[in-house]
Amino acid sequence: MAIRNTADNYGTVAKWLHWGTALLFLLSYVTVYYRHWFTEEQTPENWTALQLHLSVGVTIGVLVLLRILWRVMNPAPRPEPGSRLAQLAAHAGHYALYAIMILAPLTGYLGTSVDTEYFFLFDIPKFESTQVFALLVTGGFGISFEQFERPLDFVHKQLLGEWLIWMLVTGHALAALYHHWGRRDRTLYKMTNGKI
Ligand code: HEM
Ligand code: HEM
Repeated sequence: MAIRNTADNYGTVAKWLHWGTALLFLLSYVTVYYRHWFTEEQTPENWTALQLHLSVGVTIGVLVLLRILWRVMNPAPRPEPGSRLAQLAAHAGHYALYAIMILAPLTGYLGTSVDTEYFFLFDIPKFESTQVFALLVTGGFGISFEQFERPLDFVHKQLLGEWLIWMLVTGHALAALYHHWGRRDRTLYKMTNGKI
């Protein structure tokens, strides 16, 4: 199996990054909803679930940067035959997925009011306690953390968390299944076992 992408298939690195990120997205939802639905506030379980959400989210944020770097050096395999419109839609969908992989961790990190205890190994200070926050937000815009956090929370929890991520990921997965079972082309194989 090739490490880099080829004209026919995604390479091993792109596949690991793709499926690893998909798994981490799932985990980020499991941890945060476990916290909401199955733990009482102010308990150790509640804190652990939150910290796991933050740690998984930060990991996605780091992985997406590596992924973009790798993608820039590795053109995607050539698309399956299809209308120009379908190819444009697939392209736009992939860009939108990259956008949420950046925006979800970014808004989460900027708007959180606690430090991240990264998988309980080491601490990552919250944005609020950094020099950049003091210089830019309190110094530059002259607003408090509460004022700064409100729109970020809305984007992170409602806009992305409850709507856009679900819509985009479901649409993306359904499109992949439609290619596989409906059109019977190689789209899904390219991201899995590379079968001809
Ligand atoms: C791709 C990464 C991420 C995804 C998909 C994601 C998704 C979500 C979702 C679905 C919620 C619950 C929304 C609701 O209340 O209904 C949430 C809450 C939250 N997220 Fe994230 N998040 C991500 C990354 C992060 C990161 C990196 C941080 C901070 C370092 C963070 C901090 C928070 C906080 C503090 C909450 C509120 C906790 C709670 O409601 O229990 N998130 N996130
Ligand atoms: C069950 C879930 C999923 C399935 C079945 C799936 C399937 C696929 C397939 C078959 C491709 C190749 C498409 C092509 O070559 O035209 C692909 C690409 C891609 N997927 Fe997924 N995927 C899933 C989840 C996700 C998730 C959760 C994300 C991110 C949030 C994601 C982001 C992407 C991106 C950005 C690409 C384009 C890669 C590139 O060319 O740079 N996928 N996916």
